[in-house]
Amino acid sequence: MHRLLPDHLSHLPAPTADATAHSGRLGALIRQTIDDAGGWISFARYMDLALHAPGLGYYSAGMHKFGSEGDFVTAPELGPLFGSTLARQAAQILRSGVGDIIEVGAGSGRLARDLLRALAELDCLPQRYCILETSADLRARQQMLLAREAPQIASRVSWLDAMPASIEALVIANEVLDAMPAHIITARNDGIDEVGVTNAADDGFVWQPRAATGAVLEAAQTLPLVPGLTSEISLAARAFVKTLSASLRRGAAILIDYGFPQREYYHPQRSGGTLMCHYRHHAHADPLCLVGLQDITTHVDFSAIADAAIAGGSEVFGYTGQAQFLINCGITDLMAATPAEDTAAYLPLAAQAQTLTSPAEMGELFKVFAFGRGFDGALTGFVRGDRCHAL
Ligand SMILES: C[S@@+](CC[C@H](N)C(=O)[O-])C[C@H]1O[C@@H](n2cnc3c(N)ncnc32)[C@H](O)[C@@H]1O
Repeated sequence: MHRLLPDHLSHLPAPTADATAHSGRLGALIRQTIDDAGGWISFARYMDLALHAPGLGYYSAGMHKFGSEGDFVTAPELGPLFGSTLARQAAQILRSGVGDIIEVGAGSGRLARDLLRALAELDCLPQRYCILETSADLRARQQMLLAREAPQIASRVSWLDAMPASIEALVIANEVLDAMPAHIITARNDGIDEVGVTNAADDGFVWQPRAATGAVLEAAQTLPLVPGLTSEISLAARAFVKTLSASLRRGAAILIDYGFPQREYYHPQRSGGTLMCHYRHHAHADPLCLVGLQDITTHVDFSAIADAAIAGGSEVFGYTGQAQFLINCGITDLMAATPAEDTAAYLPLAAQAQTLTSPAEMGELFKVFAFGRGFDGALTGFVRGDRCHAL
């Protein structure tokens, strides 16, 4: 009988009976998919089902994910400082004549709430704030949060079923590319394997490598891989950015996520890749257990993302660390506006700023990448410390 928590993860909190039953239903769907595919699926397919299978995947079902009660904390979940600082960058783009904002993958809806509140204070509200969210459950949570906590601006918010074919907007995505399915590859002395997933005898799943073919092999052959290195390639993230770039008639896209340029991503010392799972604030590297109950992510290869943006016809506007971006946007001015003597207001801000900008926390691992069309001059967030040359 398959156990949700294997021995090496037995110290993690045990799932409830409901969660166990839920995981069993998603596991059955994945097992059937593997059988239907002849006994093997790519890890990208597995990850897609584990995260996004309608009604069952980690993001699609009603599992609690965000904040201290969930599995992980994202920048908007720390408090409003991230959104109000990002609003400064958004205001510059909106004032150039771009009317709308599209947020991709809005999670709990807190970033939308904080951005809209801050933009209202700057007297720079977008005409429309559109959210593209694949999870029906999260869409419902976003609708409730915005109606409850920002009722006076909620009328500007609407939800999209697909990205428009022609976009004149500021597009924002925080921690979305890392949730897009990735293929796993291993470099051998004489070729490249793709590591996929097969059914185990105990109703669980096991890894199964086979020679890489098609688009995965083609992408892997362009990478600086040393024999023995296992890593990931997100064809889905590349395709998403290329399509977005081609659709962007006027405006900018700002993508914020953890990741590196290609040289660092596939560095021989990172020989195990970047795959990570998050379950109740424990991070580990086994995506084949706790099916549907944990987040699965890979870091973003920002060189590949920049290539995809250029292939879609856009211009790259900037690439830098999150700390540098937020400092350029004026995070310190925002803090200075609250007197330090007002400890009840100032200390939470200081704690947020520390987590958002400290190199030991989100400041350096998280990067901000922007591209677009029809915007003259430098974006505020990249005026100092732009690192496009490293991509
Ligand atoms: C890690 S969460 C980040 C949520 C939020 N942006 C934040 O920072 O708190 C990933 C979000 O992206 C959504 N998502 C994943 N893939 C997506 C896609 N292809 N299109 C739109 N949303 C997607 C998920 O449902 C979820 O809302």
